[in-house]
Amino acid sequence: MRVLVTGGAGYIGSHVVRQLVERGDEVVVVDDLETGDERRIPGIPIVRTELSDPAAIPVVREALSDVAAVIHFAGRKRVNESVLRPAWYYQQNVGGMANLLLAMEAVGVGSMVFSSSAAVYGTSEGDSIPESAPTNPINPYGSTKLIGERMLSDVAAVRPFRSASLRYFNVAGAGAPELGDTAVLNLVPMVFERLDAGEAPVVFGADYPTPDGTCIRDYIHVSDLAAAHLAALDAVTDGRIDGNRAFNIGTGVGSSVREMVEAIEQASGIRIEPRIVERREGDPAVVVADPSRARSELGWKARHTLQDIVSSAWRSHVLLATGGHA
Ligand code: WQD
Repeated sequence: MRVLVTGGAGYIGSHVVRQLVERGDEVVVVDDLETGDERRIPGIPIVRTELSDPAAIPVVREALSDVAAVIHFAGRKRVNESVLRPAWYYQQNVGGMANLLLAMEAVGVGSMVFSSSAAVYGTSEGDSIPESAPTNPINPYGSTKLIGERMLSDVAAVRPFRSASLRYFNVAGAGAPELGDTAVLNLVPMVFERLDAGEAPVVFGADYPTPDGTCIRDYIHVSDLAAAHLAALDAVTDGRIDGNRAFNIGTGVGSSVREMVEAIEQASGIRIEPRIVERREGDPAVVVADPSRARSELGWKARHTLQDIVSSAWRSHVLLATGGHA
């Protein structure tokens, strides 16, 4: 099948593009290459456009010819930046989705897998969060993801349209050394950056009501996350999903910040006692997925271990830091 992938030159998108090509699908990517890197997806056609610009609609319409389905990653994902620049985040993420949906409507493409986020749950916390948990995002980034899901439901109510919204928990790791996450926005790359500088990893709070006092999250290998997109794509195009359906994409197993820092020490061979500082505003103590819906309806489950995640991330970090490419 021919699949259009927006943001396909990005960290997660490029893993999905490679898995699609490996299984024999044809891929065309739409990406503005501002944060994406075409070297992640050699040989794949890239239509370079800024999705949130209305002028992109005819360009995407053109790119949609012979396309059976869309996987939509393109968007801004910096939580702190979304707090400081809310209008821009809505323009970029909600505007981009609107333009994409208009282009799809114009050419009659009615299947999408959408990159959503556990951020839609806001401060909901627990060790087995179901898709039915309350969705009260606490930042504009999370709100743009929840609005994106609602846009898909509204379209499905008036025209033949099926979609899966994948709510990512904490993604890390690398499916290949050159595909690592080069944005330093989350725990694993932030610890790597500290270790590179010979500085202690920083732990935001060790006084949470958890076994070791640090926050617990559901870390999932990017290759498992990518596989979930292919499973969702098949469920959408096979007609096994009606309307828009949300899926938690996590392992269902929690790991604490301390455990992650220790795993990074193991993988990197660098041990620097972490520095405990005050809690970070807005961090729930425990956020772990109940991934049973994805298991039962998509036939998907995560397969990689925490060690796989951290060791693959470290290998990629070393390659990219010594002149390899993203
Ligand atoms: C994880 C834990 C920090 C850095 C984010 C996005 C969310 C979703 C999942 C995309 C927290 C602690 C971090 C550091 C630390 N992603 N930490 N020291 O906040 O769980 O959620 O990823 O959709 O939208 O917000 O991820 O990696 O920022 O933090 O102690 O140097 O690690 O306090 O407990 P988070 P994170």
